[in-house]
Amino acid sequence: MSDDYSFDVKRRRPEEIYTNIRDYYSEEEISRYSLSKSIMRIQRKITLRALELLELTKTNLLVMDAGCGPGFTTGVIRKQGYKTIALDFIAQFLYFYDIKELNPIAADIGKLPFKENVFDAIISISAFQWIIRDIHKNEIRKQIIDLMKSFYFLLKPKTKMVIQFYPKNNLVLETFGKVISENTKFKGNFIIDNPENPKKRKIFILLLK
Ligand SMILES: C[S@@+](CC[C@H](N)C(=O)[O-])C[C@H]1O[C@@H](n2cnc3c(N)ncnc32)[C@H](O)[C@@H]1O
Repeated sequence: MSDDYSFDVKRRRPEEIYTNIRDYYSEEEISRYSLSKSIMRIQRKITLRALELLELTKTNLLVMDAGCGPGFTTGVIRKQGYKTIALDFIAQFLYFYDIKELNPIAADIGKLPFKENVFDAIISISAFQWIIRDIHKNEIRKQIIDLMKSFYFLLKPKTKMVIQFYPKNNLVLETFGKVISENTKFKGNFIIDNPENPKKRKIFILLLK
């Protein structure tokens, strides 16, 4: 990434305020998020952009939705003709809509029980800001390395993963990129949509196995 792009979000985000993600996602917050038509619209738009970046050529491929929440992303991926495996470790999110065909799995994406080379793509939308928030801490950095290695292991050769997230500042973003490039075999780059407009800015990392 070029050195001349910098940003720093002044507003304190939920992942800075709440040490434990489960304290933030109370029953009330889960309902608010899951029932919000505007959030649904935004997540749909981000998902379509993520799919565009993945450049999947065939339909009926198997896509993982890592940190799926109530399934906004999963629904969009399925509508585009792909099979999905959706995972989130907050079970109340998964059953909010009781959509049987989504069949989501309650799991920590850091501990995935799948075989090598099974996924044609992995998508993670608006979840990684929780995972990387303390990337400067050694123990967290190790967890992130293990997580990214596990995604690499699960993807089929020559397939891609896309992560959209809200890093606090460019330093966190660059550190995440560096951790991935120095510790995994992924090749990749950042894509920043609307870089000059903090409200509309959307940050993606696109990774190729
Ligand atoms: C803001 S929500 C986004 C949900 C969904 N991707 C969407 O676009 O609507 C972030 C989600 O990431 C999930 N998440 C964060 N860390 C996770 C982890 N280690 N394993 C599984 N889910 C995780 C949270 O439980 C939460 O549901």
